[in-house]
Amino acid sequence: MKEFEEAVARVAEKAGLPLDLARGAVAVPKERDRGDLSLPCFPFAKALGQPPPAVAARVAKAFAPDEWLVSAEAQGPFVNFRVNRKAFTERTLPAAGPESGRSAEGNGKTIVIDYGSPNLAKPLLFHHLRSAVIGQALSNLFRWRGYRVVGLNYLGDVGTALGKLMVGIEASGEPRTIDEYKRTYVEGSRACAADPAKMDRARHWAKRLEEDDPEAIRHWEKARALSLRAFGEVYDRLGVRHDVVDGERMYVRRAQELVDRLLRDGKAEESEGGVVIPTGGETPFLVRKSDGTTLYGTRDIVAAIDRFERFGFERMLYVVDVAQEQHFRQLFASLANVGLDWAGRCEHVAFGQVLVGGSRAKTREGESVELIDVLREGEKRALAVVEEKNAALKDKESVARAVGTAAVIFCDLGFPIRKNIHFDWDEILSFDGRTGPYLQYVHASACSILRKGGGAPAAWDASRLSHDLEWDLVRRIAELPAAVGRAAAECEPSHLSSLLYDLAREFRSYHTAGARDATLRVLTDDAATRAARLKLTDAVRTTLAVGLRLLGIEPLEEM
Ligand code: ARG
Repeated sequence: MKEFEEAVARVAEKAGLPLDLARGAVAVPKERDRGDLSLPCFPFAKALGQPPPAVAARVAKAFAPDEWLVSAEAQGPFVNFRVNRKAFTERTLPAAGPESGRSAEGNGKTIVIDYGSPNLAKPLLFHHLRSAVIGQALSNLFRWRGYRVVGLNYLGDVGTALGKLMVGIEASGEPRTIDEYKRTYVEGSRACAADPAKMDRARHWAKRLEEDDPEAIRHWEKARALSLRAFGEVYDRLGVRHDVVDGERMYVRRAQELVDRLLRDGKAEESEGGVVIPTGGETPFLVRKSDGTTLYGTRDIVAAIDRFERFGFERMLYVVDVAQEQHFRQLFASLANVGLDWAGRCEHVAFGQVLVGGSRAKTREGESVELIDVLREGEKRALAVVEEKNAALKDKESVARAVGTAAVIFCDLGFPIRKNIHFDWDEILSFDGRTGPYLQYVHASACSILRKGGGAPAAWDASRLSHDLEWDLVRRIAELPAAVGRAAAECEPSHLSSLLYDLAREFRSYHTAGARDATLRVLTDDAATRAARLKLTDAVRTTLAVGLRLLGIEPLEEM
């Protein structure tokens, strides 16, 4: 709320504080009962030669009420302000709509986001799901802030995995469906694990593919097409849409050329038969093995250069499991060390692991946790919950699908992404807790009140919203744009999901209070009060809807 923040900054200016610094310092207090806006005085202490509490006292003294602010109180190093509720409400509720939180801040800037990025022939695993879900949310958030986003799926389409598939093919013939592919891959990799000769065979195939052998390429193309179809099924359900699909194979040749060039330029050096780039501090980055082949990391260097040439990015984000942290540190240090001045624009957006029953959910040969099965399971369980809660609901199947998907997505985005996830169906599907289904449920209940009340009114009187529970909601609604901005800037969708959860919880409290006390009901008898409360309910609804969509979750109207 620009006007109100500006009013706070003006008070600070009146007290002799630099206006620009004050503008940047205005915040919403963490403890919300302290005030509506606050001015932390730490940044001014130095310039004024006074300790922060003295600065705060001075600002509070300079305060006089106006049309925006009604009070100011110094509390330690902070000044806490209360805004004119009516004026604030009159500005906040009309601003809440389908465009809430949208801005032009990123206009003219490009962000490349590498997310999803699974490996061919193998099934999609949990960490690929997290990467896809987080990456898509970040794409949505940056687009909402006006950036041009290039969402990029970078397939792992070279290496011994394909060789293992080939070993399987040699044993049992060419697979035709994706399921046969998976089985053939599992067979091949079991054979390789049991027999070193087979493993050599897999390496041989990997090498043939690197050398553009037509037979190897033919198999590669088929595996790629089938894998993409299988990934597509998962991505469609999750609302994941990439703009570009690349893969490591396109960089194999260029990776060799790069290593040769770096050696010539003295930017890489021979080490133990291989070639490394010194990274200054980090472990040197191995870019060619002693057998002459390049690595994942070498291809990542070439890919970064290629992407910079193609897209001219302001930032490039790699949304990848925290297990690859060392890899990305070495990669970025290498980019800087070979003299690429944009190396600092690359960031690893690291997320925590998915744990099931306390241990890491991963495929061991043969027993894979496949994402499509996870999503189907979610849908099945959600259907059971929906049947129990609302048996009369139309179109239960598609509601169940949306609820199951929301559960999985929110489990990825509901908490800071670096935290590990303890995946538990009952928890993530709960209609009562910090979950996707809970948010959908609160959204649907707001829709239901609006249906009964005949929708949002054109005219309403802000002074009718005088209860503290209503004021809490107004303040939350006003925070959406800032939450979206922070979620994007810090690559942390939980800034947004936390706000949505708080808003949903407070709306539930309001609702519960109305059930106990008829004077607090939205659909109360007094027409003017009812109109104002319907307007508020509608603003809650649109705020939840916009926020959920940004996270990739479908806001349901009925469930
Ligand atoms: N395919 C890799 C994996 O499954 C992730 C790739 C991430 N992106 C990148 N540019 N390294 O672990």
